[in-house]
Amino acid sequence: MQAAAGGAGGAVVFSRLAGEILDILRARPGEYVSGEEIARQMSVTRTAIWKHIRELREFGYGISAGGKLGYRLDSIPDRLYPAEIQAGLTTQFIGRAGIHYYREVGSTNEIARELGEQGAPAGTVVVAEAQVQGRGRLRRSWWSPPEKGIWMSVLLRPGLPPGEVFLLSFATAVAVARAIGSLLPLEVRIKWPNDILVGGKKVAGILLEIKAELDQVHYVVAGIGLNANQEEVDFPSELRSRATSLRQAFGRPVSRVHLAREILTSLEEEYLSLGHGGRERLWQEWRQFDVTIGRQVEVVTGTEVYAGLATGITPEGKLVLKLPGGEVAEFAAGDVTLAGVRGNPAT
Ligand code: BTN
Repeated sequence: MQAAAGGAGGAVVFSRLAGEILDILRARPGEYVSGEEIARQMSVTRTAIWKHIRELREFGYGISAGGKLGYRLDSIPDRLYPAEIQAGLTTQFIGRAGIHYYREVGSTNEIARELGEQGAPAGTVVVAEAQVQGRGRLRRSWWSPPEKGIWMSVLLRPGLPPGEVFLLSFATAVAVARAIGSLLPLEVRIKWPNDILVGGKKVAGILLEIKAELDQVHYVVAGIGLNANQEEVDFPSELRSRATSLRQAFGRPVSRVHLAREILTSLEEEYLSLGHGGRERLWQEWRQFDVTIGRQVEVVTGTEVYAGLATGITPEGKLVLKLPGGEVAEFAAGDVTLAGVRGNPAT
């Protein structure tokens, strides 16, 4: 298992031995495991065990030392450490090749793109506790405060032609919506193209970036930003009316690790299904979450605003609007405002 030691500014990873000790303690919840037994299992000295227990404590793990009894894992820090996300992760490739964990980055999408350029394998994940230059759709910034959300990017190398990569943005939205809905009793909705709403407010957004030539996709970075544990006062005032967090909606703090794991799992399912021709399944799922079709909406594209009835999505993922004069307009991108719903454009 990839564990979590930090190089200044670089990915934070604790040592392999610390990771192994963690696995041993995790497998015996609530129990003391003697230093001797751990040392024997790992074929290292007891002094080495002590050193790596100290390392784990520095990473925030609560580990009691009970003299001869040994060590017991009492608490796990609320951090998106790779070792935590990977514990119990059942995916085939997403998160398997490596999860790169940072305390703070400019943008996880940027790091994932660099890894993509360097030939990192499909399924590589980049996750950070904070982003200082988080990017949103339509060249907006994405507010990403420390330890409150999931700021995560997944590197994919789909066999899709470039013109079909847009499907991945819908697939990622469905994956995030499904993941939230499977862990929390919340009604999750998707507003075209891929804003995730809870209680009418935006709780998550997706930014897909692609490197392709005319006929070949080199890689895609699926960036996911999820507001998990912010309280209302944490949000900048200009976001409060349109953004929310799972904690606000659920009434209690949520486990970011569980959510991250679930998102990776459902993202892989959606991705593999698409690769096996599962477009119809994707649209069916998307429609189950969709809050746009059949509603009066406003679409803002740059400086233009169009009001009309959202009647459908084209096979290319464009939003179809019936305008008041009866004409039909299609939109490949834009911000949608739902009549009578507060949750609105990107945060
Ligand atoms: C949107 O505007 O709705 C999309 C927001 C996407 C934010 C995520 S956070 C992780 C990844 N890194 C970024 O810089 N952006 C995406």
